[in-house]
Amino acid sequence: MSLQPSPEDRFTFGLWTVGWQARDPFGDATRPPVDPVETVHRLAELGAYGVTFHDDDLLAVGSDRDEQVRRFRTALDETGLAVPMVTTNLFTHPVFKDGGFTSNDRSVRRYALRKVMRNLDLAAELGASTYVFWGGREGSETDAAKDVRSALDRYREGLDTLAEYVLDRGYGLRFALEPKPNEPRGDILLPTIGHALAFISTLEHADMVGVNPEVGHEQMAGLNFVHGISQALWQGKLFHIDLNGQHGPKYDQDLVFGHGDLLSAFFLVDLLENGGPGGSPAYDGPRHFDYKPLRTEDMTGVWSSAADNMRTYLLLKERARAFRADPEVQQALVDSRVGELATPTLGDGETFADLLADPSAFEDFDADAVGARGLGFGRLDQLAVEHALGAR
Ligand code: GCO
Ligand code: MN
Ligand code: MN
Repeated sequence: MSLQPSPEDRFTFGLWTVGWQARDPFGDATRPPVDPVETVHRLAELGAYGVTFHDDDLLAVGSDRDEQVRRFRTALDETGLAVPMVTTNLFTHPVFKDGGFTSNDRSVRRYALRKVMRNLDLAAELGASTYVFWGGREGSETDAAKDVRSALDRYREGLDTLAEYVLDRGYGLRFALEPKPNEPRGDILLPTIGHALAFISTLEHADMVGVNPEVGHEQMAGLNFVHGISQALWQGKLFHIDLNGQHGPKYDQDLVFGHGDLLSAFFLVDLLENGGPGGSPAYDGPRHFDYKPLRTEDMTGVWSSAADNMRTYLLLKERARAFRADPEVQQALVDSRVGELATPTLGDGETFADLLADPSAFEDFDADAVGARGLGFGRLDQLAVEHALGAR
């Protein structure tokens, strides 16, 4: 398998990732701004499939929006890079300090909706199929300041209104909500995949809304990202994904993919690439990297870190393939009864009455013997570790 990325791998990057100037709450920028046109050319050279952006990212150099859009389009045409996803910046400007769709100030909410509508037009024009909503400022620092139930009403009202707009214009865009537990707000609304999925079920156009989970965000909340992605897939709601790395619950590190919980990254790639029926990919959307090159790096380090995300993904894809192909792993999976879980608990047409009438299920069942039987999960885990390390 080639470790050279190609557009078929569907790797995409946000303009704000490689373009991050590395300003943090304690220090100034350590890098110059990057022209989005240069980013498009560099990403294409590295083998990426596409690029994504917030409305404001296009204004990195120069302030004439129309002119910047024109230059960006030309770069896309020259390189063939796609724009599969677009999003809105509803967090940088001071006007959004208390949120966009859920600001206590109604005029801010109306402004936020208009800002999104303007960018939905551009997203459709550029052929995007997914529009991401990351509500980093939707939340609070004190429970005294936010009526959370009203905030959720307004969040729903905002998304319902924008869905109406997309349908009316015939844009064919789907929405993907991106959960995050905190940062920049003390507590963010829709903090995890589970909260987002429950909220989506209340929307007017729930069918066109899914999630865009980010590795680090679930891990900041101490959650298992592979489980979260599995449930999103199970509910048909994995519309997009943000890949990066994180070392457990702390500030949002946005590391290169795999540069955090490597074993979780291995199982994630295995799920995405081999978790579908008959070992096919479980997810066919873009593999989107939402990371921040380390603040210590210069521009050479920035471009090599972009390549590292893709290389790490491809290495894990190769390791996951070897894991699945290993006869010892296949036997260990059988020994651990992993496949047996796909068999329904009741037989075809069996009812609870039939179950009650089956002595082998209870009266004659030897719970002690079954309880004493080892499951061999440790063996499976060790095989996964050895494959991830390239030791097998
Ligand atoms: C974060 C978020 C953001 C969003 C992006 C899309 O790291 O907190 O991932 O990067 O994904 O702004 O709106
Ligand atoms: Mn993040
Ligand atoms: Mn993200």
